Amino acid sequence: MPSMFDQIQIGKLTVPNRVALSPMCQYQAENKRGIPENWHFVHLVSRAIGGTGLIFTEMTNVEPRGRITEQCLGIYNDEQVTKFREIVNEVHRYGSKIGLQLAHAGRKSVIKDGDIVGPSAIPFSEESPVPRELTVEEIRGIVKQFADGAKRAVDAGFDTIELHGAHGYLLHQFMSPASNKRSDEYGDYTKFPLEVIRAVKKVIPEDMPLILRVSAVEFSDGGYTFEQMLDYCRKFKDAGIDAFDVSTGGDCPTRPEVYPAYQTSYAEVYKKELNVPVISVGKLEDPNVAEAVIRNGQADMICIGKGMLRNPYWVKEAATELGVDLELPGVYNVAY
Ligand SMILES: Cc1cc2nc3c(=O)[nH]c(=O)nc-3n(C[C@H](O)[C@H](O)[C@H](O)COP(=O)(O)O)c2cc1C
Repeated sequence: MPSMFDQIQIGKLTVPNRVALSPMCQYQAENKRGIPENWHFVHLVSRAIGGTGLIFTEMTNVEPRGRITEQCLGIYNDEQVTKFREIVNEVHRYGSKIGLQLAHAGRKSVIKDGDIVGPSAIPFSEESPVPRELTVEEIRGIVKQFADGAKRAVDAGFDTIELHGAHGYLLHQFMSPASNKRSDEYGDYTKFPLEVIRAVKKVIPEDMPLILRVSAVEFSDGGYTFEQMLDYCRKFKDAGIDAFDVSTGGDCPTRPEVYPAYQTSYAEVYKKELNVPVISVGKLEDPNVAEAVIRNGQADMICIGKGMLRNPYWVKEAATELGVDLELPGVYNVAY
């Protein structure tokens, strides 16, 4: 079995090692127009310098009302593309690959006086605003916005796109019987995500892999089951998903119990059943745990979130702890 320091192929993309920076909202777009700032440049590029094979941007939204807050990023105008291109070019200088996480917050947007929308007029929690139910025409418009966002990501030079189908955001909201009570055609839980996948696939290069992050289980009453979601994912794979990034929850305020590798058993089943690369995430920052997940064949890649907020050189330090040579650029290497 490979080590987390071995390269991996996702579709036709070769990633230099099996560690990814997990997508993490920074809430730092002070311009309030969804444009990446120097903050994002530093956050993403420093993890590339630290040896991370694949860098994911934070959830980056396809329209202004699709942002969680006004400080969140977007990919719906040319200024955003220009700044993303700078980040992508710099990440590539250090040999890492970079993916944009493409998203829409739907009912989880908290923009004050925003047009908060969702599949049905059901709030996320008792404290959340009641979303406005999207019309069929609006849903089709959002499918097109996903495709336009993907085109812009390609234009900015990204190596891959991850659709954010997890954590209770719009794609997930449509997949869940707890948040989608529609009686029209979009009451079919896979229709909207399948349309998004197909529309995105159509505009990205044939050799660019498309990844989907999903919540393998939900914590809402009346949510989908693990088996149902796995079944949806079979359809998503047939529609062109090249790899799955397996998380949980976010559909309601209930959170899972957190312990090392707490979500990896879900990834393991996905890997067996779907036969495409699978990424596991969730408290994998102990290098021995991370290496065991890859070596035991439970997942093909791992995402590190909070561990990399603490330490941009997580990969280098993990390599040192496990006795593996990993070259960092410039003089950083002499520190080890
Ligand atoms: C500050 C913060 C922001 C996050 N933003 C996102 C996001 O934009 N997209 C996403 O899919 N997950 C997001 N997450 C979840 C992480 O990607 C990851 O799945 C989670 O933190 C568990 O991994 P960890 O235990 O390594 O931190 C966020 C987590 C944190 C802590």
